[in-house]
Amino acid sequence: MSLLECRGLTRAWGAFRAVDGVDLDLAEREICAVIGPNGAGKSTLFAMIAGNLRKSAGTVRFDGEEVSQLSAPALASRGVARSFQITAICPGLTALENVRLGVQARQPLRWRPFGGSAAMREGETRALHWLERLSLADRAQTPAGELAHGDQRLLEVAVALAQEPRLLILDEPTQGMSVEETRRTVDLLHGVMAEAATAVLLVEHDLDVVFALAPRIVVLHRGRKIADGPAAQVRADDAVQQAYLGGLD
Ligand SMILES: Nc1ncnc2c1ncn2[C@@H]1O[C@H](COP(=O)(O)OP(=O)(O)OP(=O)(O)O)[C@@H](O)[C@H]1O
Ligand SMILES: [Mg+2]
Repeated sequence: MSLLECRGLTRAWGAFRAVDGVDLDLAEREICAVIGPNGAGKSTLFAMIAGNLRKSAGTVRFDGEEVSQLSAPALASRGVARSFQITAICPGLTALENVRLGVQARQPLRWRPFGGSAAMREGETRALHWLERLSLADRAQTPAGELAHGDQRLLEVAVALAQEPRLLILDEPTQGMSVEETRRTVDLLHGVMAEAATAVLLVEHDLDVVFALAPRIVVLHRGRKIADGPAAQVRADDAVQQAYLGGLD
């Protein structure tokens, strides 16, 4: 059984179909990149899977359960974590406090008169762990809004991982980064994705990043899936070459 099963996912605005009948299966712990030209529908697809956007048609099953109508918080509590293309952290909170929010998204703090403080400490330890793994431990007490752009993006990944997701959705984690920052981020992501034991859906424009991180690639073009398979095979695909070289436009 697949962890994620999308069938016929469609999102239309008026007559325009931003995502058009996409089927997508993902196995437990599978890492898959979704690529495609600007406007292909990648973020829209991810928003529907994560419960941030209403579907015009189609269904999503997660871990054997029909979840098409669930909200993003309901999906988060089942193990779907998403980072956004636009950085979505709380700028006034410290880096550590942001990651604590991630820990709580999966396991909300309850009123536990005899276990509360132990749970708090454990949450703090877990949050610090992910900050460390993303090389941010020395900035734990820095307000997130004061971090460099690249560090803010890494913080977002730490927040997502702190949710202990079973499916991690990353929308352009290296967007706006320098070549050096991108290289460092790929190394860090490589390590944490292996450790976190989560399936990953990744949108990324930088094809070097895609090939470094994802054994499988799905290609969207004008809302439709035009290729899906092992990275080397997709790379050699004629339709993919044309979509990227503008041949289909
Ligand atoms: N709220 C909206 N209302 C109308 N059209 C929208 C809306 N959101 C997205 N679109 C359109 O849907 C199409 C797909 O957008 P989407 O953001 O999913 O593309 P993308 O593949 O993520 O592109 P990029 O690589 O630039 O991030 C685009 O043509 C976009 O203009
Ligand atoms: Mg996008």
